[in-house]
Amino acid sequence: MTERVLVLDFGAQYAQLIARRVRELGVYAEIVPATATFEQLLAKEPQALILSGGPDSVYRPGAPRLDDRILTSGIPQLGICYGMQYLAHALGGRVDPGLPEYGPAEARRTGVEDPLLAGVPERFRVWMSHGDRVESLPPGFSLLLGSDGAPCAAMGDAARKIYAVQFHPEVVHTEHGMELLRNFLYSVVGLTGGWDMGSFLEREVPRIQAEVGDRSALVALSGGVDSAVAAAIVHRALGDRLTAVFVDHGFLRAGEAEEVERAFTERVPLRFIHVKAEDRFLAALAGVVDPEEKRKRIGNLFIRVFEEEAQKLGPTDFLVQGTLYPDVIESGPGQAAVIKSHHNVGGLPEDLRFRLLEPLRELFKDEVRRLGTELGLPRSLVQRQPFPGPGLAIRMVGEVQPGRLELLRRADLVVRREIEAAGIADDLWQWFAVLPGVRTVGVMGDHRTYGEALVVRVVTSDDGMTADWAKLEPALLQRIASAIVSEVPGINRVLYDVTSKPPGTIEWE
Ligand code: XMP
Repeated sequence: MTERVLVLDFGAQYAQLIARRVRELGVYAEIVPATATFEQLLAKEPQALILSGGPDSVYRPGAPRLDDRILTSGIPQLGICYGMQYLAHALGGRVDPGLPEYGPAEARRTGVEDPLLAGVPERFRVWMSHGDRVESLPPGFSLLLGSDGAPCAAMGDAARKIYAVQFHPEVVHTEHGMELLRNFLYSVVGLTGGWDMGSFLEREVPRIQAEVGDRSALVALSGGVDSAVAAAIVHRALGDRLTAVFVDHGFLRAGEAEEVERAFTERVPLRFIHVKAEDRFLAALAGVVDPEEKRKRIGNLFIRVFEEEAQKLGPTDFLVQGTLYPDVIESGPGQAAVIKSHHNVGGLPEDLRFRLLEPLRELFKDEVRRLGTELGLPRSLVQRQPFPGPGLAIRMVGEVQPGRLELLRRADLVVRREIEAAGIADDLWQWFAVLPGVRTVGVMGDHRTYGEALVVRVVTSDDGMTADWAKLEPALLQRIASAIVSEVPGINRVLYDVTSKPPGTIEWE
């Protein structure tokens, strides 16, 4: 049986991070809202529960609370931050408003020996973020760690296997946080671990087979990582009953369409329909300069082309989507649903009814990449940097024209080549070229030139929500600029974008 830890989410900033840390430690973890009933939790057969932090105070009327039966269920539990205050309050301890504490603090051991603290030094730095604090422990608990701002920084009841920490073991600023989590999972709960993407496949493939039965499925490939990996795993489960429609809008980067086609004809040979629709997309964008209008037209046409292909194939029961964990909002797996939005482009019409198959909905981006490798997709596809659904069309200010597309594609290839050659791609979020639609005068040899300026955009980010411009070495910037101007006729000036997000966005349009 798969070992499973449930993270009960009290509205934490860090619930996803907790789940991810547990998985990094080799145990499958899943997030459930704290409002889940006892029956819902039991149905998932968890070996342990982790109660997350949350913004509330246990004394506020309406503060989130658990089904009481969870506390006496005998399932080992670890409370974090609000999770600790909740446990203390619910089990008969006292929680009081204290001085709020945000940031680093020193945790000190109290002399009590406990498996949770194995290998942890006498004093270490932890990351706090709380208003209330636990003033007196519930019966049966021992004080394991103290700190200046929170007299109880950790407590535990070894007999009931209920533990709690006031600080955040899941963040990197907490020293020994991973050890505490590892001790909880392996020493306190007694799990054996070993969960990895291989075990995910072993469980997920039969699940997809059971859900789909002898019916058929369709997937829209966009060129991105998520849809490719979703297609590959569903193909492993259904074989020829999955058809992939690759709508090639003509705005992909150099070599990308060929790479997708090769991956899905050679490595993961599924029924693959490559729709080359560049002319239709160019026609739909003729004369359009407004960024939102461009996005809308691309999105609508993408869906129309996909729909036409779907109709040619006849009735299909399931639509595969590469939805990831961070995109998942409440909607149970396998629910019949009218699809309202396509992740990359616009929305599917209401009358297109499929059941949704979202095999990646429990995974994080880095796990999806590992799964893709496990499924045999090439590294170049699996490690691809994020790329917007509307593609190069929203990286050129002004009208999308074939000549400008070619210019941008060639310049983008140079940027990618130089960044990859510099060996810094792993530290970056995205690196690409933008045509800002500005013409400038230059001189090459003895000739005056009048060409387009090109912007190089390189950013660091954790999730794309915020970003910073990458502080590239001047020598590297120079190499990029020289290579672009000499290799891409038509571009005579190169600018580097030094805008963070906010106030800028990563893409230009
Ligand atoms: P912005 O430009 O909003 O981008 O800072 C944030 C991240 O999202 C990507 N992006 C998109 N991805 N479809 C996508 O799948 C889109 O329409 C889209 N627009 C932006 C962008 O590349 C960056 O990683």
